[in-house]
Amino acid sequence: MAGAGDKVDYVFKVVLIGDSAVGKSQILARFARNEFSLDSKATIGVEFQTRTLVIEHKSVKAQIWDTAGQERQGEKCSQWRHHTIPYHLSSETYHVLLPNKLTTSHACYFNNCRYRAVTSAYYRGALGALLVYDITKRQSFDHIPRWLEELRGHADKNIVIMLVGNKSDLEEERAVSTEDAKEFAEKENLFFLETSAMQATNVENAFQTVLTEIF
Ligand code: GTP
Ligand code: MG
Repeated sequence: MAGAGDKVDYVFKVVLIGDSAVGKSQILARFARNEFSLDSKATIGVEFQTRTLVIEHKSVKAQIWDTAGQERQGEKCSQWRHHTIPYHLSSETYHVLLPNKLTTSHACYFNNCRYRAVTSAYYRGALGALLVYDITKRQSFDHIPRWLEELRGHADKNIVIMLVGNKSDLEEERAVSTEDAKEFAEKENLFFLETSAMQATNVENAFQTVLTEIF
């Protein structure tokens, strides 16, 4: 594995999308730091983490972007012009000031504002996407077509997409069959895997598959 300071041959941006609480941030924590937390907080704003790996003898830096799933269903904030959007946007880097000091209601405005202002920036330059649902929450799977629509509307036409059914450790609470998901993925031309961020099942495999395919 390449370490910090080693030469990087490629930087690939990959985005995580899907409903709130499906486990996007924990999938990222598992991939980037080999960590997992059960009391993970809902993401506010946008974050990214990187990990450098070697693919076909080249050093590839994966830059994985993570955002909140929840604003997808939220009411748009009618006063969005009046809020300060705590982002600094530039074409190459995307710095985020996490709104630690915002109250809950401000955070809600913040998310709605973010949705209006930042959706295209989130997807810009992304070469891969993990489209995540929770195998124990039927609704999170039923929303996948909407996420796919948003993705296809904003991202590059050749983006590599992996459908991910997370929380495979909760087999006894399963609400989405593997067959249904596989069928959907085939119909939409997506890669498909079931993962468990908790047990570290297939997380590596999911990212590896997307990054290798981009490569
Ligand atoms: P938003 O940031 O709100 O969009 O949610 P998210 O998709 O980032 O979800 P997050 O990673 O914060 O995880 C939500 C909850 O599910 C947390 O309590 C996690 O610990 C839990 N969780 C995530 N992955 C798994 C998993 O593989 N198995 C189990 N059992 N729980 C998981
Ligand atoms: Mg999150």
